[in-house]
Amino acid sequence: MAKRKKIAVLFSGKGSNFAHIVNTLHQKECDVVVALTNNPNAEGIKVAEEASIPLEIIDSKAYESRESFDTVVVERLQQYSPELTVLAGFMRILTPLFTEQIKSINLHPSLLPRHKGLNAIEKSYEDEHTHGGVSVHYVTSELDGGEVILQKEVAKEGLDLEAYDAKVRRVEKEALEEAIRIVLL
Ligand code: GAR
Repeated sequence: MAKRKKIAVLFSGKGSNFAHIVNTLHQKECDVVVALTNNPNAEGIKVAEEASIPLEIIDSKAYESRESFDTVVVERLQQYSPELTVLAGFMRILTPLFTEQIKSINLHPSLLPRHKGLNAIEKSYEDEHTHGGVSVHYVTSELDGGEVILQKEVAKEGLDLEAYDAKVRRVEKEALEEAIRIVLL
């Protein structure tokens, strides 16, 4: 059987998408060799601890520029030689220092190019379209701007914002899992 590929996962908050990767793909179809967060208080830290996945905490607040933060992140990631880095709720804009050295994909909770940036779920819910959705795309230094790998639509009809939000958060996990398979396997 072919050797499992190595991935890195980056997160900033709850880490539910990171947990989904751990529960579905880790040690089955690929190995999460490192998890990295820019937030020392991220809830997702316990996901790494419970799964005994090496964890790197690099507090972005301690760095004066995006470039100095990205330099340290790249150095740290390269120590683990991941073949793919997955941004799963990693709320940082990355510079070319990162994007030119690290092959990475990002999950975003809208049908890009609609609603880049923060609060994409609320913005999608409130726009004029009947469907919102989620995207997984390659990461470039343009925020939420790289080539789309896959998208899944979520119909808004009959859903209040809370129910729409919950559905997006379910569907995005399937999308991320599928996109990792497409890129890696
Ligand atoms: C997810 O909904 C993800 O799509 C979004 O942050 C959330 C993280 O949740 N990402 C972005 O908005 C990226 N621009 P999680 O920490 O529970 O995985």
